Amino acid sequence: MNTATSSTKLPIGVFDSGIGGLTVARALAQNLPQESIFYFGDTLRCPYGPRSLGEVERFALQISEWLVAQKVKLIVIACNSATAAGLETIQRSVKVPVVGVIEPGARAAVQVTASRRVGVIGTIATIESSAYTRAIRSLDAGITVFSAATPRFVEIVEQGMRLDRSPIEDIMAQTAALYIRPAFAEIARDYLNPLRRCSIDTLVLGCTHYPLLMPLIRSIMGPDIHIISSAEETALEVTSALERRNQLAPPEQLPTYSFATTALDPTDFIQLGGAIFGSALTSVETVDVKELT
Ligand code: DGL
Repeated sequence: MNTATSSTKLPIGVFDSGIGGLTVARALAQNLPQESIFYFGDTLRCPYGPRSLGEVERFALQISEWLVAQKVKLIVIACNSATAAGLETIQRSVKVPVVGVIEPGARAAVQVTASRRVGVIGTIATIESSAYTRAIRSLDAGITVFSAATPRFVEIVEQGMRLDRSPIEDIMAQTAALYIRPAFAEIARDYLNPLRRCSIDTLVLGCTHYPLLMPLIRSIMGPDIHIISSAEETALEVTSALERRNQLAPPEQLPTYSFATTALDPTDFIQLGGAIFGSALTSVETVDVKELT
């Protein structure tokens, strides 16, 4: 077997500060059912959102180099904060292709907006980096971008999931019931009403946790706004990146899904992560952060 053929069988490496990036891993597994996935959640150092861009860049580079050492054929930075802080540095530093979550979401927004007024919500790091504004305006400089940091949405996702212990395969389907609670709706209204007043017709969910809040966000933004999930768009981008390089796994391949976390106790990662990924996380290893540095 030559190297080009065997490397197609390697997993796609995916990482996030924690469990949010599993929304992207889930979309990848659905769009590319023959691809194996190796997911890394840096739970011990989560959240990345309130950290400086320099620190997040350093963490993201450590993880990318570690994933390359584990032998992955492509890396997906399934975290907007890490993409904003480190995409270019990582692309320059590692030998495998690297896909972030910001450009795919930006491209989708540019394609659907008619009014050319686009909203973006994300963590403090992502919004302060202006990465979405740059990505959107590099595609269409005539678009006006309205950004808002919505850091408590990460907290809501994690809190809500702890309130609900339904069978893991149901969690995405039950999101409406789970997250449309008065306390959560009040926070969401505070964050989103200013964006509504800006007459946007498109809203980008610039954090990989946020697809879990889609019904809550939809209930406030109304039925006519396009809501862009970077998870779906990134899966499409990975598909074309692999196609372009002739790196798609053989169609008959049975995929394997493995997970690693820096959490000292992986119980929450396994339970909440399985609920997001849509099936039990059966192969989970814990990694000492010192191994990354
Ligand atoms: N999943 C991260 C992102 O997409 C948000 C969580 C965090 O702050 O670490 O930005």
